[in-house]
Amino acid sequence: MKVRNMFSRKKSVVGLDIGTNEIKAVELTDTGEGVQVTGFGWGRIPSPEQVSETIRTVLHEAGISGKRVVTSVSGRSVIVRYINMPDMTNEELKAALRFEADKYIPFEVDEVDIDGQSLQETDSTSEGESEMKVLMVAAKKDLIQEHVSQVQDLGLTPVVVDVDCFALGNAYALRQMNSSRLEDEETVVALVDVGATKTNIHVLRGTTSCFSREIYVGGNDFTDSLSRHQHMDDYEAEELKRSPDGHETMITEAVQPVLEDLASEILLSFDYFENQFDQQVAEVFISGGASRTLGLKETFERVFGREVRDWDPLENIPVKADCVDVEAIREHACQLPIAVGLSSRLLDSA
Ligand SMILES: Nc1ncnc2c1ncn2[C@@H]1O[C@H](COP(=O)(O)OP(=O)(O)OP(=O)(O)O)[C@@H](O)[C@H]1O
Ligand SMILES: [Mg+2]
Repeated sequence: MKVRNMFSRKKSVVGLDIGTNEIKAVELTDTGEGVQVTGFGWGRIPSPEQVSETIRTVLHEAGISGKRVVTSVSGRSVIVRYINMPDMTNEELKAALRFEADKYIPFEVDEVDIDGQSLQETDSTSEGESEMKVLMVAAKKDLIQEHVSQVQDLGLTPVVVDVDCFALGNAYALRQMNSSRLEDEETVVALVDVGATKTNIHVLRGTTSCFSREIYVGGNDFTDSLSRHQHMDDYEAEELKRSPDGHETMITEAVQPVLEDLASEILLSFDYFENQFDQQVAEVFISGGASRTLGLKETFERVFGREVRDWDPLENIPVKADCVDVEAIREHACQLPIAVGLSSRLLDSA
């Protein structure tokens, strides 16, 4: 739940999604009368050594001059856990989590930064004490440090370092907040973002986070499969996968086994959630560049046995057309939930 700062002046934040394959930047501005998209930039990262250079170029070419950025980390050095804790204030929670952490994380407590928040669902235990569900996040300090340095070296100010899967959830919550349709608060949706190296799953009830997981399979694996199948190099396979004209059958055949494996793995997570929460995942929303892979949506629908939908995180947010390439932003919509979720931090009460 985000609280608008009613007395804030016009302010902007850039959500900077530093993907493995592509940089995505979305600037949101709070005009006082609502949120507007005031900047958008995008660019492929030619090699892992050129990440900073690509960010600089993307921001420059997009004409984004705001320095306040929200970025995110992800991967095996970031641990997310949903735990039960006795009812307490947010201040108390921060301190308590450090004591609790070693039960839940595979690292030394000294090695990690820990944060958490109550998910605002208070239950009573069998002894009658009230308990709350808490989202705990632990990230390796050296990962955060390296990440923050990279951003600062670009002359940017990191206002928040978030986690990919939460940004995904926040983008969905923002979309719901700006939607005129009132969705059922109890409806369970799964957000599935298929990037280049990983697939993020985030299951929400209404807009409350219930479960999240990262699977280390993504677009690069589809490309690898195609390059092996066709005995071509990765570069050629990547281009062919993105522009399949006339080769649809061959590409579908090459990537199908990886799609099947990924879909089955995601389904295991849905099953786990459904067993734990005794509630069905009703709808699946897919995003990420690799969600455009030929055959992905059909495979997911068949394996999940439920509807799979694309979504545009900016669907209900006005775009300032003189600052933003409107056509480009629409074309890249499926890749933008994380950048939008990051910039939605603008709305956090400050
Ligand atoms: N038209 C397309 N068809 C199929 N795949 C595509 C297409 N366009 C982009 N991709 C794939 O999407 C991926 C990039 O998407 P995205 O920007 O979501 O990933 P990323 O954020 O860089 O990666 P990660 O989240 O894993 O760090 C690449 O694997 C790319 O091959
Ligand atoms: Mg990504």
